[in-house]
Order: sequence, then structure tokens, then C-alpha cells
Amino acid sequence: MIRTFRAPGRVNLIGEHTDYNQGLVLPMALSQATFVESAPNPAESLYVYSEHYKESREWPLGAISQLEPARDWGDYVAGVARELVRGGYRIEPRRLFIRSTVPEGAGLSSSAALEISCALALAADQPVAPLDLAKLGQRAEVEFVGLPCGIMDQYVSVFGREGAALLIDCLNLERQYVALPSGVSILAVNSMVKHALAQSAYRKRTEECAEAARCLGVGSLREVSQSTFETAADAIPETARNRARHVIDENERVRRFSVSKDPVELGRLLIESHRSLRYLYEVSCAELDFLVDTALEIDGVHGARVTGGGFGGCTINLVREGCEARFTETVQSAYIRRFGISPAVYRCVAAAGAGEITSA
Ligand code: GLA
Repeated sequence: MIRTFRAPGRVNLIGEHTDYNQGLVLPMALSQATFVESAPNPAESLYVYSEHYKESREWPLGAISQLEPARDWGDYVAGVARELVRGGYRIEPRRLFIRSTVPEGAGLSSSAALEISCALALAADQPVAPLDLAKLGQRAEVEFVGLPCGIMDQYVSVFGREGAALLIDCLNLERQYVALPSGVSILAVNSMVKHALAQSAYRKRTEECAEAARCLGVGSLREVSQSTFETAADAIPETARNRARHVIDENERVRRFSVSKDPVELGRLLIESHRSLRYLYEVSCAELDFLVDTALEIDGVHGARVTGGGFGGCTINLVREGCEARFTETVQSAYIRRFGISPAVYRCVAAAGAGEITSA
């Protein structure tokens, strides 16, 4: 029997680079998703085919617990397979066919969508608690793919809900659904670039935050309030101090964003977040700054900022309803004039989390 599993990408409204600091994040799952069709396999192997890459990978079932990364797309699948086996799950011989509507390298979490959809397909009838599923996907990424990421992307891909954003407290992994503001659209603009340093710079940021926490004598930056930070900040070397200031302020912005219904205030928080990511956290780039600056000049735009890890990928824009078409045209033509590439614009609609698709 062929079964189909789906896991969504995500856009993060606010709370950037806070998850691996045990902080607060506010993403929403997207209607763009990864779909995995799972069919029986006559051979004793796990076979996967990616429609995007037009390539396949195949691993003998007996070898899965010993797989090593190959540094390509197959690692996301191999990583979750290895984690499942190590966690005591049984993997049946299957053929997986993967297709996705989540743009890759755009900061909309195509990797978490791939991990979670494959984990669901591979676990099949063996129940995995939703939180364990998210943690398993994150472990695959940290330990197999090698990116020391937080849990935001996998968590929201599992727990997303239609019409709502998800306030995740990465300290205790509790969640709260937050209704989206009315009268505004959320639009993501894809810079169509992903700079090569994204991975190493991400790791570096995690180390700098850990250094700041050490200087402050705390386990994580989550333990530090804005006022405590101001009295102790001098003890931290400058770069780590800037990173920590971003994280601590960003947690506060997430708190304010989650309770505000005022599009003007929400927009202002996005703008502050971008400024902080640009100057203190230093994860923006010329293309993203241009997209944000251009957006902020357009009538009806409340706010804009980089979303996701940074160094390329998307900006997120809070746009008054009715102004979307003019926004899209203006941003696209300005970006083409400046960089010679047409940026894709996606309307972000909050969708449900991952699961099996059952045909009626
Ligand atoms: C990437 C990581 C997330 C998170 C963001 C930045 O998307 O996978 O865990 O750290 O960057 O907020």
C-alpha cells in the first residue's frame, strides 16, 4: 500500500537565534510542505528518490545504524533513519518518493520539513510522541548533518496549526498558539541568495552565545534579564556581548509581539529585530538589507526583517491588506534593478503541522 506523509516548512515571525539559547520564538507552519510517498520495497533496503534533485539513494537496512554523512540531501533522510534505529524503532524496507513545495535555501526550513516527513514515513505504524518526533529531527540535524541548530524548525513543523503562530518556549518546550493579527498579510520575499558562510557563521554564533553565558556565570542567556545584562555586560568581550544583547532583547520583543494586536507596534518590533540582527548579531547581508530598506519605503508596509538563519534566504514583511500587489511589484522591480535577479514573493498562510494524508 502507498501511504503519503506531509510536513510543512515554516516562517519565523520573530525570535531569531534565540532557540539554541533556550529563548522564545514565534514561527508559523506554512502551506508549503514536503510530501513523502512510501511504498513497499521488494529489496531489503531503504530507497529514496528526490524529485527536486532527480537523484536516488539506497541503504541496506542492516547498515542504517552505522551510516555516516555524505554531505548532501540524502543526509537528512539517513540522519532520521539512523536516529529512529538508534531509538529502537524498526525500519521496514520501503521506497520513499520525496517532493516539496518548500523553496530550498530560502530560510523557510525545507530541511526540517524533509526530516519530519521522512521520520513519519519511516516510523509508519510505530507511534512516536509528537515532541519526540521534533527532537528526533533536531538530533538528526545536529548529530548527522552537523548543524548545531535549535529546535524551532522541527517543533513548528510538527505542532503547527491553521491560522495561528506558535509561541515556543525553548527552555521547557511549552507552546501557546497565538492568533495572527487581522487586517495584514504576511509576505516572504526570497533574496534568491544563500551565502557560503551561513553554516560556519551559525556555529560561530552558537559559540559566542555560550561564551557570553559563561562570562555571566549562567547556563544559558535565557536566565539573564535585560536589566541584569546591562549591569554585567562589561565583563563580556565585545563580539560576544553584542550577540548576547541581541538574544536578550529579542526574547523581550517576542513577548511583546505575541500579545500585541496593533500592526504598527508589530511592525516596529520587526524593524527593531532586523536592526539587531544586522548590527549586533551580524547575520544579514546586502541583499536582505536592501529588501528590508526597500519594503519600508512602500506605503502599507508596517515592518520587515530577515527571517531564519540569515546570510540570504527570505525577509518577512507585514503588509496592510490590499497593498500586497503593489508591494510585490515594487520590491521585485527594485531588486531586479539592483541585483539582476527576480525575487520570489510568497504569501504566508499558517497551516497545520505534520501528519499522514488520508484520502477520503
Ligand atoms: C535556523 C535553525 C533554527 C534557528 C534559526 C535562527 O533556522 O535551524 O534552529 O536557530 O536558524 O533563528
